[in-house]
Amino acid sequence: MRMTDLIAKKRDGLALTTEEIQYMISGYTEGSIPDYQMSSMCMAILLRGMDDREVLDLTMAMMHSGEVLDLSPIEGIKADKHSTGGVGDKTSLVLCPMVAACGLKVAKRSGRGLGHTGGTIDKLESFPGFSTALTEEQFFDNVNHYGIAIMGQTADLVPADKKLYALRDVTGTVPSIPLIVSSIMSKKLASGADVIVLDVKCGDGSFMKTPEQAEELARNLTRIGRLAGRRCAAIITDMDQPLGFAVGNALEVREAIAVLKGEQEGDLLQLCLALGSCMLTEAEFAPSHEAAEQMLMEAVRSGKALDKLAEMVRAQGGDAEAVYHPELLPQAPVICEVPSEQAGTVSKIHAEAVGLVSMKLGGGRATKEDVIDPAVGVVLHKKLGDAVAIGESLATSHAPDSSHAEEAVRLLRECYEFRDGPVERPPFIRKIVR
Ligand code: URA
Repeated sequence: MRMTDLIAKKRDGLALTTEEIQYMISGYTEGSIPDYQMSSMCMAILLRGMDDREVLDLTMAMMHSGEVLDLSPIEGIKADKHSTGGVGDKTSLVLCPMVAACGLKVAKRSGRGLGHTGGTIDKLESFPGFSTALTEEQFFDNVNHYGIAIMGQTADLVPADKKLYALRDVTGTVPSIPLIVSSIMSKKLASGADVIVLDVKCGDGSFMKTPEQAEELARNLTRIGRLAGRRCAAIITDMDQPLGFAVGNALEVREAIAVLKGEQEGDLLQLCLALGSCMLTEAEFAPSHEAAEQMLMEAVRSGKALDKLAEMVRAQGGDAEAVYHPELLPQAPVICEVPSEQAGTVSKIHAEAVGLVSMKLGGGRATKEDVIDPAVGVVLHKKLGDAVAIGESLATSHAPDSSHAEEAVRLLRECYEFRDGPVERPPFIRKIVR
């Protein structure tokens, strides 16, 4: 078999066979197929597309390029979630304890962040002592015992995607549905869960700019998940502003705790209820979405969801007292408000720019080697559609020193746009795809 022939075949719009796809992925992973040939293939796939059988074959070939986790030592149905990313996305910190409190097992591997804020793992490490480097045995034991564990991804999970994603990033081939689906689903399938729910973002700053594109991606993701034998659902949500209010690691943990305590409503809670009810219904723990939402709200009202977070933190070596006393979490030395210089209704918040402010304060990584400061970041007080008077605080910046704080105040003002009169917003949750 020759890669040149496979590129020409895809260029001419023909389907690749299972063997050809396996040859291409194993050759690229081990290094016998060079980047220039693989980038040409990615462009051919982007322009010509792939049918379902090809996407499934590509997903399976990528999944088998490294370690495939066997979660069978964990009793019962295991659930996992994936988000296509977003500024202030602390969903896992709320959702996982909520569904675990309803009896569904959560055995989750999460990543670290590169860019505006940390990943789930970085956020959890805001709890003093918390360890995400569990052995496989500890991971299984914790899930069997407490119903929940979140640990870091091992280096060997889907190595094909690590190489391929880096290549796509620099060859203009990220926005291809077959390539996105195989990238996301190979990692989710290799992580071993029975139930997979996906949060697909649409709008500015996400891969899918329109609701139609996001729905096409969501339908393809869930179809491939089902063809691979998993139970799968997706939620399409608008990413026209940061999710919730906090952006920054310990600040996001505090916000997650507030939601788990039932002290905060809004988009973050709404999303967790929607994702959680997909998980519970797909796992047949609840007969309907309404019943599932009631179970999840009861887990919050009764305090069981918060206790579940504390159990997980304790079981992974962290200070669980901080769950009940968030003031024990790391706090930044310089905290200052961002008074508005304009009056009006908030018509736009540049989410990426808010993320960048948090990163400049030290809350994210520009390179893999950078060390995150868990205490710093931003808490928004005004969101889309809110009325603002001159001098009213738009946000609070949590900075390591006064020079960072001054810069953050200036930059945060620039993240906001205003208009006179009311601002209409499309519904935050656009659609549930099953
Ligand atoms: N997220 C992924 O993991 N892969 C993609 O291709 C796009 C988003």
